[in-house]
Amino acid sequence: MATRDHQLPVVLDPDHVARVQQALLAWYAAGHRDLPWRQTRDPYRILVSEIMLQQTQVERVIPKYHAFLAQFPTVEALARAPLADVIRAWAGLGYNRRARYVHQAAQAVCEQYGGEFPHDRAELERLPGVGRYTAGAIACFAFEQDVGFWDTNIARVLHRVFVGPEIPRRQLTARQLDMLADALVPPGRGYDWNQALIELGAVQCTARRPACLTCPLLAMCRAAPSMQTALAQSQQRRESVPFTETTRYFRGRIIAALRALPPGAALDLNQLGPRVHPAFTPERLPWLRQLVDGLARDGLVEVAEPAAMYDAGTDDGIADDAVRVRLPGT
Ligand code: ADE
Ligand code: SF4
Repeated sequence: MATRDHQLPVVLDPDHVARVQQALLAWYAAGHRDLPWRQTRDPYRILVSEIMLQQTQVERVIPKYHAFLAQFPTVEALARAPLADVIRAWAGLGYNRRARYVHQAAQAVCEQYGGEFPHDRAELERLPGVGRYTAGAIACFAFEQDVGFWDTNIARVLHRVFVGPEIPRRQLTARQLDMLADALVPPGRGYDWNQALIELGAVQCTARRPACLTCPLLAMCRAAPSMQTALAQSQQRRESVPFTETTRYFRGRIIAALRALPPGAALDLNQLGPRVHPAFTPERLPWLRQLVDGLARDGLVEVAEPAAMYDAGTDDGIADDAVRVRLPGT
């Protein structure tokens, strides 16, 4: 059954929503990154920061943000500046189209609104280069309106917490994300709520390695159970033995050592060992014997044992170093 675009694919349980709101706000209040654009409500500064943050990492934005505002301290100063100066100031941020947009937006604010940013989200969205996200961010972070908005990071957090792991089949549409983001804003707490969502997505619920075990939302997150399984598996893969310590590697080393011999020649295990493992000692004879037996079962080597012992019909008591190994005869 296809989900209608204007319906959420999940039912929001008010108790669940309230618990998430409380836990996330408490976590944010207990500590967060001290970022320069969190110390202002100036819509111009919020605009500059949000446009810079759209495609550039926080650490790289911080010095550029300070330098840009030192050079263009007000929306009027930016509007008056030659575009070339703005483009030069944008150096190091990439996506120079954003420099033109922020310049044009400043000019629009000065020409159409007498230098005062509009408060209305729909009006903000009509400024050059200002999309739904940036308009929401200005309405919220400058004018402290209780509006929801989302970028890929907020969308990831919302999806995980309220829908589940982001497998393609479950992707929310843009309309659904708009509705979800708006529906979740706790009245009167929009500023902290949205900063907290951004903070969680940046430091806790990252795209590639969500830290569920230390997450304030662990107990109420719809993605957490399967995230932990997925993470445990990838952790196991990362921590797996290096190839040069695997059975497959040493089987290959044994064959290579035997291949280097004249046709029909054999080695006993004490001769074979050092050619297979650089740190071979007699303690490793049982290990080598096991590998050799495995290769023999696969028909890749021949194992010759002293006849008397062979007749005894059992391996028990046969000294490993009495065994001779060679490539299979024809
Ligand atoms: N990325 C986008 N907006 C941000 C903000 N307000 N704080 C930190 N990172 C952000
Ligand atoms: Fe993200 Fe894991 Fe926290 Fe859920 S529990 S919000 S998946 S970090």
